[in-house]
Amino acid sequence: MIKWLCFNGAIALLAVALLASCKHDSDEVLPQKVAFGHTIMKPWFDTHCATCHATGRSNYLNWHYNPQDYAATFDKYYLPKIYERVYVKKDMPKDAVLSLAALETFKAWSDAGFPAK
Ligand code: HEC
Repeated sequence: MIKWLCFNGAIALLAVALLASCKHDSDEVLPQKVAFGHTIMKPWFDTHCATCHATGRSNYLNWHYNPQDYAATFDKYYLPKIYERVYVKKDMPKDAVLSLAALETFKAWSDAGFPAK
């Protein structure tokens, strides 16, 4: 009787362990968002754009600057607009004029293909 209980207990433990590992596996196949972690440009956008475009700020509905999600922030719709407003029209940031150095930093990132890291 005791042996039988132990055996069932072991089966139950094994089942729990298997279920736990299944859950872990399915977590891993979900697509992971890539964060924007560029050592120069992440602070650049934080400084010049986040005040109005970060989550919940005054203009995040115009363009959502979300460094947790690189692909959505710099998608093929917004990236040309960002380039246009920052480097061609030079009217973003709305409330300030970028220094020549800041513009050159942006241009270097653009020339490199707007990398996430
Ligand atoms: C002081 C607030 C403010 C700051 C800072 C700011 N923006 Fe904006 N942004 C706005 C406003 C207001 C609009 C909507 C009106 C417009 O398009 O001019 C806007 C619109 C935009 C749009 C247009 C979206 C579309 O669909 O046309 C882009 C792209 C953009 N901003 C990028 C940036 C970038 C990149 C920076 C940083 C370099 C930045 N903004 C900084 C206020 C700001």
